[in-house]
Amino acid sequence: PIDAPKIASGKVREIYDLDDSVLLVATDRISAFDVVLPGGIPGRGLILTQLSHFWFEQTKGIAPNHIIPNEEEILRDSLKLSRDSQLRSMAVRKLKPLEIECVVRGYIAGSGWESYRQNRTVCGIELPAGLQLASQLPEPIFTPTTKASEGHDMPVTPEEAANIVGQDIFEQVREISLKLYDFGSKLAAKAGIILADTKFEFGTDEDGTIYLIDEVLTPDSSRYWDAAEYKVGSSPASFDKQIIRDYLETLKDWNKTAPGPELPP
Ligand code: C5P
Repeated sequence: PIDAPKIASGKVREIYDLDDSVLLVATDRISAFDVVLPGGIPGRGLILTQLSHFWFEQTKGIAPNHIIPNEEEILRDSLKLSRDSQLRSMAVRKLKPLEIECVVRGYIAGSGWESYRQNRTVCGIELPAGLQLASQLPEPIFTPTTKASEGHDMPVTPEEAANIVGQDIFEQVREISLKLYDFGSKLAAKAGIILADTKFEFGTDEDGTIYLIDEVLTPDSSRYWDAAEYKVGSSPASFDKQIIRDYLETLKDWNKTAPGPELPP
C-alpha cells in the first residue's frame, strides 16, 4: 500500500498526491481505444516506467521534463516503496497539462492512414498522392489532437490547436515535438526499429515553462516497427500495442454480424 492520498485511478496508472509533487504508479493493466482489457501483463507497468525514464534522461537536452530531481530518495526513503513499486513509479512535478496531445508521424498508419484515405490530408496537412499504408512521409508531420476527458480525442488543424493552447505555445510544442521525434527515431533506427509515430504531452508551470510530461516514447504512446520486416502497403510487424487495437477491431466487426461480447461504450 502507498502511504499517500490517491487522486485518481487511470486506465493504466494510479495517481497519488505527494503535496509538492505527484506520484504516478504504472500498473500491469493494458488499454486501447479507451477499453481496459481484462487481466494484465505481469511486469508491463515496470517496463513502461523504465522506458519513459530512459527517454526522459536521453531527451532532457531537448525539453525539460516533469521528473523531480530528488525522485529516487522520495520513492525509496520517504515512501519506502518496495523495489518493484519503485521501478514502476515516477515522482513528478505538479504542472498544468496542455489541452492537446502532440502526435508526430514520420510514417502513415492508424488514424492518419484513415484520414489520408478519405481526403489526402491529416489534421489539415495535405500529403502527396499515392501513399500506401506504412509509407514514409516526405518529412515528419505534427498532427495534434484534442484531449477529451470523455470520448475520443479529435484531430485538429494547426489553427484549431493554436486556438486551444495559444499561438506561442503551439509553435513551441510543435518544434519540441518534431525535435523529439527526430531524436527518438534516430536512436530507434540504430536498434533496427522504426519509430513510425508517437504522442507527446506537455504541461506548464506558473512561469509558463513548458515541460514534457506523461510517458514518453514508450510502446504505449508510439508505433514501433521491426525495420527488418518493414514493407510498404501492409501492416508492419510491431513492438507496441497495435496487436491489441487490431484485436479490438475484430470484435467490433464481429459485433456487426453476430451477437458477441459488447465493447464498453
Ligand atoms: O491512432 P493514431 O494513429 O492517431 O495514433 C498516433 C500515435 O499516437 C500512435 O503512436 C499512438 O500510440 C499514439 N496515441 C496515444 N494516445 C492516444 C492516441 C494516440 O499514445 N490517445
